[in-house]
Formats: sequence, C-alpha cells, structure tokens
Amino acid sequence: MPGATVGVLGGGQLGRMMAIEARRMGYRVVVLDPSPRCPTAQVADGVVVGALDDLESARHLAQQVDVITLDTEHVPADLLAELEKIVPVRPGSSVLRTINDRQIQKQFLDRLGLPQAQWAPSTTQPELDAALVKLGRPAIVKVRRAGYDGKGQVRVEETGDAGAELAKLRGEPSVAEELVRFKREISVVLARGLTGELKIYPIAENVHRRHILHTTRAPAPMKPATKVRAEEIAITVAEALGHVGVMAVEMFELVDGRLLVNEIAPRTHNSGHYTWGACVTSQFEQHIRAVCGLPLGDPRPMTGAVMVNLIGDLWRAGQPAWEHVLERPEARLHLYGKDAPAPGRKMGHVLLLDDDTDRGLVTADQLIATLTPT
Ligand SMILES: Nc1ncnc2c1ncn2[C@@H]1O[C@H](COP(=O)(O)OP(=O)(O)OP(=O)(O)O)[C@@H](O)[C@H]1O
Ligand SMILES: [Mg+2]
Repeated sequence: MPGATVGVLGGGQLGRMMAIEARRMGYRVVVLDPSPRCPTAQVADGVVVGALDDLESARHLAQQVDVITLDTEHVPADLLAELEKIVPVRPGSSVLRTINDRQIQKQFLDRLGLPQAQWAPSTTQPELDAALVKLGRPAIVKVRRAGYDGKGQVRVEETGDAGAELAKLRGEPSVAEELVRFKREISVVLARGLTGELKIYPIAENVHRRHILHTTRAPAPMKPATKVRAEEIAITVAEALGHVGVMAVEMFELVDGRLLVNEIAPRTHNSGHYTWGACVTSQFEQHIRAVCGLPLGDPRPMTGAVMVNLIGDLWRAGQPAWEHVLERPEARLHLYGKDAPAPGRKMGHVLLLDDDTDRGLVTADQLIATLTPT
C-alpha cells in the first residue's frame, strides 16, 4: 500500500518516470545505480550507488525496501534469485532468465509456437556460415546479452564480409536473424497483476531510425483481426512467463497481415510512454500497481497520441529550441535529466495529444526539424 518503499534496479528514464508516478501515489522509492546523479536518483527518496551486477549493493537496497522491480532487463537473473530471499522481486528471476538472453528468449517463443523471424546461433564463424545458409542474406546478427537501441547488432549484407561483421561483436555470444521485410512495427504493452489480472493498452505503431525508436502513434490504425492476434500473442507470452508488471512485446507486421515477434521487454517500454498523458492510467503507475499487488488501473485512451523521442544528436549545437514545443498546446515535453547528450542517447520525448495521429506524426517531424540546429 502507499507508504511502502519500492526498490528499483537501474536508474534510467524508465525508473525516473516510474518513481514520479509512485511518489505521486505516496510510495517511497530507492534506486540502485552506479551514478548518484542518474535520472531516477534525481526524483527518488534514496539511492544506493553500485553496479547492477554487484550483489552486496543490491542486498543493501533489498534490506531497505518492501518490493524490488527493474528499469532494465540487463540485471543478472542469479542476482535477482538472491534478492528474492530477502524481499519480493517483480518480475522475478525466472522471467529475467528467459528474457535477458536472446537465444533463450527465442527458444521460449519457439516452444510456445509463436511466430518469429527465422534465427540460428552465430557466435563462431562456422555457426554464422551455417546460419547464413539457413536464413539467407541480408541477415542481422545480435549479441545474446545486453543489447539495446541497436547496440550489439551488425548486418551482414548480400555481398558483405560476414567474418568482418562478426568480428565487430568481439566474440560475444550471438544469434543471427533473417532480415524481415516488414510493413510496419507495432508493440503491445500490457500489465499483468499479482493475481493474473491483465490490462492491455491500445496497440502502438512504431517507427525506428537507425535502430532507435523515433515515433510511436497510438491507437495504431489496424484491422480488428490483427489487433486480436497481436493481443493474443502478448497475453500468451505474459502468462507463460508468469510475468508481474508491465511488459511489451515488439512485433513486425508483414504485408500479408502476419505478425512476427521481434522481442520481449519485461518492463515499461519506450513505445508505452504515450500512456502517460493519453491514457487514464500511465504504464508507470500501472507497473507500480502490478508489482505492489494493487488492482490494475484503467488503460483506456482519453485521446490519440504521437510520441517522438528526443535523441542526443539534437543537442549538437547546444540546447534545442524548446519554445517550438512549449508554444504548442497539444505538446508535452519530457526530459530525463541526463547531463551528457551523446549521439544516439535517449534524452527525452515529446508527447503530442491529437486524435488525428496522421497529423500528429507530421507535427512530430516538423518539430524535430525546428529543434535541430542547422
Ligand atoms: N530481423 C530483423 N529484420 C528487420 N529489422 C530488424 C530486425 N531486427 C531488428 N530490426 C530493426 O532494428 C530495431 C531494433 O532491433 P531490436 O529490437 O532487436 O534491438 P534492441 O537493441 O534490443 O532495441 P531495443 O531494446 O531498443 O528495442 C527493430 O525495432 C527493427 O526496426
Ligand atoms: Mg527492440
């Protein structure tokens, strides 16, 4: 119940937005992160400074909280299993064991009979050669662990040197995937509560630029049958995992309407940021409700929305010209408090509340152009 303390492993923007919503509801929040100035620590009640794989620091956090949750899936499952001896951890170590290794995640999806891109192990040159025979070219090779925003991925082109691409991953265990010629990308963000209760948000349509999410619009215009299928897939995943909390399933939609699962995120998700402002209950409040064992909130959209990410490149000539965002009544600015705007780094986002999401997408690109110094 409110008044209790939530521990968060990882102090990025997801933890920050979760902490703001949790504190609004009267929870206390303590975060574990290597940096005392991380985005979450800036808005939390307390911070334990330490690495996410450091058991002593994590135990120190566990001893001062009532429940532990995550802002990133890149936390060792063994560490979570240790923390579970001290305090409830949601989602639990078994969820993370399945998710945080891409190969195990893919095997899990295969076992459930869920559709995904063809894949094969590709850590060694002979494995990659065999994978390319199976998958064809181009193919995408991804490290099994700790990839995000396209980091730890290389593409083997039609005539490219596969060995040279593989070498870029420096021997990290990897899997190769066929290149999917998708019509568009969508994601299903849902929450599963302690009792198994499920709440599903409007489906998001996502555009990536250079492997980083650029825009999301929701509700995604789509055929009712595709929506039902997408939701079924996501529910199957959440139930099979025994997940507790918010979860996102990223999918590719093909021209013929088929859906392939791209990957599973066992946490709040960038494509769900629009829920904070557009839906009755944000994904961050929903996650807190789920991990604290509260009844889940209403995921209903109050308006259509477009979210556009603010990437560090926008800062290359100093602070972006925020007045262009602030003067628009439908726009809400979110900045994550990161002090080093590196290229490719997610610094914030803008939410555009507009029932006409086609118009919202045009506005989003115009805004980004006006923010970008020439
Ligand atoms: N097999 C594929 N075929 C076509 N495009 C792909 C494929 N795999 C990845 N992509 C593109 O790259 C994007 C990022 O890939 P993926 O989701 O695997 O990476 P990630 O590093 O885990 O990113 P994040 O965690 O930020 O979602 C996808 O959303 C998609 O646009
Ligand atoms: Mg992804």
